[in-house]
Amino acid sequence: MVRILAPNDDVLTKAAAVLLDGGLVAFPTETVYGLGANAHDGVAVARIFAAKGRPSFNPLISHGDSLDMLRAEAVFDDRALSLADKFWPGPLTMILPRAVTGKICDLVCAGLPTVALRVPNHPVALALIAAAGVPIAAPSANASGGLSPTSPRDVVESLGENIEMIIAGGATQYGLESTVVDLSGPDTVIVRPGAVTAEDIADVLGCVVTYDLDAKEKPRSPGQLLRHYAPRTPVRLRAVDVAAGEALLAFGSTKFMGVRGGGRVDDMAEDSLRNLSDKGDLLEAAANLFAYLRALDNGTHSAIAVMDIPNIGIGIAINDRLKRAADSQ
Ligand code: TXA
Ligand code: MG
Repeated sequence: MVRILAPNDDVLTKAAAVLLDGGLVAFPTETVYGLGANAHDGVAVARIFAAKGRPSFNPLISHGDSLDMLRAEAVFDDRALSLADKFWPGPLTMILPRAVTGKICDLVCAGLPTVALRVPNHPVALALIAAAGVPIAAPSANASGGLSPTSPRDVVESLGENIEMIIAGGATQYGLESTVVDLSGPDTVIVRPGAVTAEDIADVLGCVVTYDLDAKEKPRSPGQLLRHYAPRTPVRLRAVDVAAGEALLAFGSTKFMGVRGGGRVDDMAEDSLRNLSDKGDLLEAAANLFAYLRALDNGTHSAIAVMDIPNIGIGIAINDRLKRAADSQ
């Protein structure tokens, strides 16, 4: 049974423990209810996609209790610091380059070199994140395709038994997701509109702020990056064997997988082989997907052969990402 709990110190301590243990907690923010997981824990973040029934991976927003908590995760330029000073805590999310010191996992960023950050302006969200002591990745707490939840009741109706805990905080103030501004390139571009407008941002920065609400796969302007991670090495799906020169992205046991011309997969060079989950766990596979693809996409292989991954649960999102990688060549 999912528990709807009124926020008090005891509940927040327990909820923080659930988060640090890899579980999911739904919580109120000033925009909409979020479905939270420890942003540093890839398997926990995979549970978000599984719970929402999302058929694809999109990058998620990570929430801090302060700029301090998020500082090590991204490169904050002067624009970012000015906007944080003015709008945090509040309904503004910034897309920034990931920092080398960052610990937010690859799945949160969908393998991109950028990360989306915000400090929500809600006492319960801030107390929960502070108690956990780590950034919390949280999309809206609804099933894929559903409406964004603005009350605990909405969360229960949409996600029901897929989550462990909902912390109640009444109706949300805005009922609309935060503004997302991309500061990862030289331009200041709003990619999702929200309560903070282009004029609000331009007033602070004294520069031009544009909207780009439908560019999905292509870079928006020079210096801006692809919206989706795609390896440069060709990807070959549903591989049942490996050719000379290929890398292997395995899933489950490789015992019956051969190397063409003879040889064993287990004897392949270390930089040519990654196993998304040798025990065949789809959550673990999702958590490893982007890092392992990147590791094999090192310019030394003719292709990345990928073993079949069951098209169930979060496997559907994994296959969607792999298919796009295969199609993009
Ligand atoms: O109001 C909100 O922002 C709510 C509450 C719970 O805080 N959260 C929310 O999170 O809406 P989420 O994860 O569903 O929003 C993600 C948005 C998407 O539009 C996504 O494409 C964009 O942020 N995004 C996140 N990281 C990105 C990145 N690295 N590059 C480009 N877009 C990114
Ligand atoms: Mg949503």
